[in-house]
Parts: sequence; C-alpha cells; structure tokens
Amino acid sequence: MSGGRRTTQRIDRILAHLGHGSRNDIKIMVKQGCIKVNGIIVKDRGLHVDPYNDTIELNGERIEYKEFIYLMLHKPPGVVSATEDKREATVLDLIDPTHAVFELFPVGRLDKDTEGLLLLTNDGKLAHSLLSPRRHVPKTYEAFVDGDVGLDDVKQFVAGVTLDDGYKTLPGELVVLSQEHGDRVISKISLTIHEGKFHQVKRMFEAVGKKVIYLKRVQMGQLHLDPTLEIGTYRELTPEELSLLVKES
Ligand code: URA
Repeated sequence: MSGGRRTTQRIDRILAHLGHGSRNDIKIMVKQGCIKVNGIIVKDRGLHVDPYNDTIELNGERIEYKEFIYLMLHKPPGVVSATEDKREATVLDLIDPTHAVFELFPVGRLDKDTEGLLLLTNDGKLAHSLLSPRRHVPKTYEAFVDGDVGLDDVKQFVAGVTLDDGYKTLPGELVVLSQEHGDRVISKISLTIHEGKFHQVKRMFEAVGKKVIYLKRVQMGQLHLDPTLEIGTYRELTPEELSLLVKES
C-alpha cells in the first residue's frame, strides 16, 4: 500500500505510532543512540523522516512502517464488539499491546453471544465503505435454530421477511445444512444477508416463528473466517485477504 508515497513525519511520532514506546521513551532512546535513519544515528527526536522510503533501525533492527492494520479476530462469546465498555469485556481486551497501539475498532458489530469473524482495523475509510448500506456487502452466518427450518422459510427469506419494527429485509440466502431430531428439531443453517440491521439474523428467524440458539459469522464479502484460527485469537490479514476486502469496498 506504500507505493510511491512521500510524506515526512517526526521520527518520535513514527516510532510511537508503531508501538515502540511513548514519545518520552523515544526521547531516551534517541539520547542512547538506539535509532538510526539511513544508517546515521538520530540525534534529534524531531527529525523528519519519510517512513515509507527511509530506512529506520531501532537497536539494529529494521522497522517496517505501516499506517493501517487489519486483524481477523475469531470472536468468542462473552465479549462486546466495542472499543470500551464500563461493565463488559470488549473485543479489544483480546488484542495485545503491540497491535492495540494502532487504535483499532471493530468493523460492525456482533452480538455479545455471537462468535466468528470480526475484522478490526484503524482504517476508517475501508471500514466505512464495507459497512455502507449502499454497498450490500454480503455476510454469511451459520446458526443452530430451534425448530424445523424448511423450504417455506427458504422462500420467505428470499422474498424478504418483515421484522418486528416493520422493516422488510432484502433477500437472504438460507440453506439448511443438517437437522437433529430429538425432543425438538434443531436445524443447522447457513444464511447470507446483504445488510446489517440490529440483531438481524435472530430477528429474521423470529419473524418466521423460530429461535436462533447459536450464531457464528463465517464470511464477510469474500473474506472467510480462517478455520485454523482458534476461538478468541486473531491474526493480521494476508495481503491477498486484504485485497479481497478492498475490491469489495
Ligand atoms: N445477526 C444477529 O442477530 N446477531 C449478530 O451478532 C449478527 C447478525
């Protein structure tokens, strides 16, 4: 994403942005001669540097600059999709300080009890366009539903269902993956929706008289939840994954 950019910033600001300490810590590092730019020891923490084109070293290690960061989190239940909350643990509590320094926020919301794919970034522009109601970026969920989900529901979801507030949903693609027949029928389903109303999946099933008992997001646009990503953990998006999202936005 750096191709051809030429802007300069203070070296202490750059290193603080990348999580290498406070501006004051960096002042000390400069005094100790720990920082080099293009092979020359930095004497002035206010030195202007082009972070994309100059070579920055901290204690002999090359520092790679990035303005934005994109994380795929496998959200566990029990945490809220917010940057801060007075009572509840948030998704940011799952992020270690080296990444949290980027002032991340979640792209959209999953309910506290919902699991699965949640993108965290500091790229407001990308987040905004992925969430824009005009773009209809698809989101796919898997769920267990209490009840016998059948062809009627599939047809109703394609036609759009009316939620409790009178809103008629856009067509959603519902697939019944399997069913367990015990005392009650439990259906495992996949549902792709093209909008993101509050509690939308749960409310769509309520509209057809059924209850979601477990919900997991597995896809957003072309981005799939990495099946090897343990619940509660995260990783940076690969360049290929990021380009899928950028195309979508
Ligand atoms: N729909 C819901 O009902 N809950 C979520 O967390 C996401 C979509």
